[in-house]
Amino acid sequence: MTTDLRTDEPPTARDDSFLALADGTPVIVHPVRREDRAEVAAFTQRLSLDSIELRYSAPMRAEAVIREILGDGRPEERLSLLMETLEEVPRVVGTAEYVRYAREPRRAEVAFLVADEFQGRTAGTLLLYDLARRARSVGIRWFSAIVMAENGAMCDVFRHSGFPSRSVREGPTLRIDLDIGEAVGARPDPDPTRIEAIGPTAVPAG
Ligand SMILES: CC(C)(COP(=O)(O)OP(=O)(O)OC[C@H]1O[C@@H](n2cnc3c(N)ncnc32)[C@H](O)[C@@H]1OP(=O)(O)O)[C@@H](O)C(=O)NCCC(=O)NCCS
Repeated sequence: MTTDLRTDEPPTARDDSFLALADGTPVIVHPVRREDRAEVAAFTQRLSLDSIELRYSAPMRAEAVIREILGDGRPEERLSLLMETLEEVPRVVGTAEYVRYAREPRRAEVAFLVADEFQGRTAGTLLLYDLARRARSVGIRWFSAIVMAENGAMCDVFRHSGFPSRSVREGPTLRIDLDIGEAVGARPDPDPTRIEAIGPTAVPAG
């Protein structure tokens, strides 16, 4: 199934997005499944300690990273996405996750982790848009992220996303809030492989 990231149709049981990085590399994005364990394990082996620490704010063993990525939850509360290449032996490009706030159900905390060799190739940006599309469809309006203040790549992804954002310094970290907009209906003229066509799809704030 091909998904248009500019629409906000409710997720289906098997909701795959076929996309392309800006350099043309084709990728698939889908909710993580139990059977992805081997690919996720190989992904954790390829991650640098720096990337793991930036994502989890602490050093973590590979097994713990795998558990975090595969973690459980209904998509209304928690969703973990996997981006993979379409090679014969697929490689995990990256992951993205939202966890809905229990006390503020229209807000979710988000985090991203892209394999070192794929960083800077637009995977993080595509994951943000796809995660936002899926989150809007279950009624989430705001994303929040806690990011190390020196994490320029993550800050750039948010800043350049087109979503209205606000950031507040909290010691060594930044709390970044994004308005991902309200869900909107399907739109004509889909072209999901063109990254420049994939916008934030946010209904203007305010
Ligand atoms: C942060 C992260 C998810 C961003 O994903 P990504 O795929 O590298 O991001 P993109 O390729 O979409 O790049 C987004 C922007 O960041 C910049 N950028 C990305 N990687 C960069 C790097 N290593 N150094 C400098 N700038 C970088 C890009 O130039 C781009 O800027 P642009 O919008 O002006 O083009 C990824 O780098 C990562 O996994 N880092 C380690 C884990 C982490 O920090 N997680 C965040 C915790 S919430």
